[in-house]
Amino acid sequence: MYSYRINGGKPLRGDITISGSKNAVLGVLAASMMLDGPCILENVPDISDVKVMVELCRTIGATIEEIDKYTLRIDPTTINTYTATGPEVSKIRASYYLLGALLARCGKAYLRMPGGCNFGQRPIDYHLKAFKAMGAKGTNARDIENGIIKLEANPLHGARVFFDIASVGATINVMLAATKAQGVTMIINAAKEPHIVDVANFLNSMGAKIKGAGTDTIRITGVPTLPGNFSYSIIPDQIEAGTYMIAAAVTGGDVTIHNLIPTHMEPLSAKMREMGYTVEEDDESIRVYKEPDAEIEGTNFKTAPYPGFPTDLQPQAVVLLCLASGMSKMHENVWETRFQYVAELQKMGANINCIERVALVSGVDSFKPACVTATDLRAGAALVCAALEAPGVSYIGYASRIDRGYENIIEKLTSLGADVERVEKPVFDNDGEA
Ligand code: UD1
Repeated sequence: MYSYRINGGKPLRGDITISGSKNAVLGVLAASMMLDGPCILENVPDISDVKVMVELCRTIGATIEEIDKYTLRIDPTTINTYTATGPEVSKIRASYYLLGALLARCGKAYLRMPGGCNFGQRPIDYHLKAFKAMGAKGTNARDIENGIIKLEANPLHGARVFFDIASVGATINVMLAATKAQGVTMIINAAKEPHIVDVANFLNSMGAKIKGAGTDTIRITGVPTLPGNFSYSIIPDQIEAGTYMIAAAVTGGDVTIHNLIPTHMEPLSAKMREMGYTVEEDDESIRVYKEPDAEIEGTNFKTAPYPGFPTDLQPQAVVLLCLASGMSKMHENVWETRFQYVAELQKMGANINCIERVALVSGVDSFKPACVTATDLRAGAALVCAALEAPGVSYIGYASRIDRGYENIIEKLTSLGADVERVEKPVFDNDGEA
């Protein structure tokens, strides 16, 4: 049980490079399970969620070799089961993509309920309703037995699928299943996140017929085979990039972040400029700093599906608001209970009041160092940003949650001048559990 020790109060300065997108590679790994030949994946981030997903794919028989740290050769033709009920499944959310992928490949999928960060109810009813509309019989959302979902389709056919809320996971899952289903599937009110486009681009490069990914209507014409035999490079991670933009800003630093897609960062760049930070864009990089005479003012944020402000940057953006003058509001529209980390930020001197889905933030001059707990992945990233600003030594417990989604975070921050290390010191949470 390790923690991060951060001796804060040092402005971050220099250049860093963003890794491949966590949420894209998890979808692409599942999609690769449907191929009829091998493929090569490049720009794969070296993070623990990817290791879990790779292990999970191996448990169903896929052959996955590491060509180097960032490149995988995947051969799904050795898959020998449609059942994935081992402990890996409940370690991550993205394991639910195996429902769509195995239905497409085998006509059957038996899967343990997925895990992932805890921020309220995370139902999968849209996924199951859509599979039912496509001819899959089996588990309904209301009667999942012993945590195992069982689906069978003979055959899987195209359907019109409408989502009440634009769900990222359900959009990708239906796209996967529809890729090899008979006929045409239309997804209406589809989610538009960059990683949805990346999964669609990967599948199209392998022989799929997907049109409209990145818009709210996706049309998929099923194909009988996906030949594979291609190389594909994963897009950069929008959330990692945003976290470093915020870390640079709150420490009063000057950082240029390379290998990102500036349009993906627009929801954050626009808000940071509105607050008074300077955000300069180039083709594949963004520089963040504060002019000496700039006043940083509070503002209001609302999280929303892409191209709205990403909920996965909400905790980090609250750290920005904590150091801005005046009163700000953060409205969390996507998840019911994504403010658990606020109690941890309060230990660091933040002045935040939460009323249901709104956090009211009053600016403070600086954070105070403290021992805090990463309540989930992005909450942990927010605490890292706060601890980098706080002058003195902070400890962040449950740091393995942060390593789920941030490649080489210690090395990257150190290269920017931060004093940060992993230490074998548990931080105790309210239950006394280490
Ligand atoms: C994905 C991301 C997660 C991010 C979220 C929203 C991955 C692995 N995870 O999660 O980091 O915070 O998108 O950008 O990519 N909903 C239902 N029924 C369903 C599915 C969703 O009611 O069957 C609701 C959810 O409760 C939530 C909203 O739809 O309120 C959005 O959820 P969704 O986009 O599906 O999130 P995930 O795919 O789980």
